[in-house]
Amino acid sequence: MRIVCLPGDGIGPEVMEQAVRVLEALPVEVELASYPFGGNAIDETGEPLPAETLDACREADAVLLGAVGGPKWDRGGPRPEAGLLGLRKALDVYANLRPAGPVLIVRELVGGLYFGARGTRDDGTVFDTCEYTPAQVERVARRGLELARARRGSLVSVDKANVLDTSRLWRRVVTELSADYPDVELRHALVDSFAMELVGPLERFDVVVTENMFGDILSDLAAAVTGGLGLAASASLGDSGPGIFEPVHGSAPDIAGTGKANPAAMLRSLALLLEHAAGRSDLAAALAAAVDEVLVSQPTPDQGGSATTDEFGDAVLETLVQQVAL
Ligand code: NAD
Ligand code: IPM
Ligand code: MN
Repeated sequence: MRIVCLPGDGIGPEVMEQAVRVLEALPVEVELASYPFGGNAIDETGEPLPAETLDACREADAVLLGAVGGPKWDRGGPRPEAGLLGLRKALDVYANLRPAGPVLIVRELVGGLYFGARGTRDDGTVFDTCEYTPAQVERVARRGLELARARRGSLVSVDKANVLDTSRLWRRVVTELSADYPDVELRHALVDSFAMELVGPLERFDVVVTENMFGDILSDLAAAVTGGLGLAASASLGDSGPGIFEPVHGSAPDIAGTGKANPAAMLRSLALLLEHAAGRSDLAAALAAAVDEVLVSQPTPDQGGSATTDEFGDAVLETLVQQVAL
């Protein structure tokens, strides 16, 4: 397997280091290569997604990504985040799976407000546009329905159909498609009240499918109610080609360089890679179990403990060695 690593900025490289250690210890044949991406790529080449990085990602079997961004690149000029959006679009990874406890959020990732027409008018008005084609909605809705069918058979589709035309399209397409899935119980929910529901017991939900911006916000909320951003992993998948496996969190400039970053979200993203890109659900389960165990025995500061990023990685490796007899 060829895996391209994009450590990125801030705590990105710190948590990536732990993922690489674990990956190298696992019984999978991998070829790893690291490339500049995000703010560090801007510093090196002037752009957040250099052609060489994108080419390597296109040719890879999977992309493992830390996080990008930081105050250094917030003062005008090219933005690290633009590189991330460009990479997602180029690989057409439209379904972003963000598990949070018993819930799986499926976030549409390459459409909506993030990618619609934008600009500035002569009078100084600045605009971003939310756009969706029926095909864009259908493919991510299908993914949500398929995942729900394979899990507990229930899907909540989240929109703002009481206000937005794109949401009315969303609701219509999801409803029509759901006729092909009589075994999946579908419910539509409005994003504002659903945000409130998400703060309650999560066992009531199985799969949640929603558009890009709502999914961005709801997934941080779901992370917060299931232990915080230090734990939340994601897999961004298309129909073919490499997926991107990355934590939900960002570059956490407030703790970068302090050894406080929790690598669990990154390690769980690696587990998603093992499951979805390497076809090794056995190793994915072993890694996920090792992370769960270490979260109890050696928690990092965000979990109320004092283990450093490295110590957490050490403990995961030790646990894995016992489990898989590496
Ligand atoms: P953030 O996710 O980086 O941090 C939010 C809070 O969570 C901070 O207090 C941080 O310390 C904490 N946190 C995050 N990850 C943690 C971890 N692994 N262990 C312990 N604590 C953790 O969000 P932000 O501060 O709003 O954004 C910082 C930068 O990251 C911005 O430039 C933003 O654009 C970027 N960002 C990038 C990605 C990505 O690359 N995928 C995702 C989100 C934000
Ligand atoms: C995420 C991040 C990104 C997003 C930013 C950094 C572009 O917040 O992956 O959740 O909004 O998609
Ligand atoms: Mn986000």
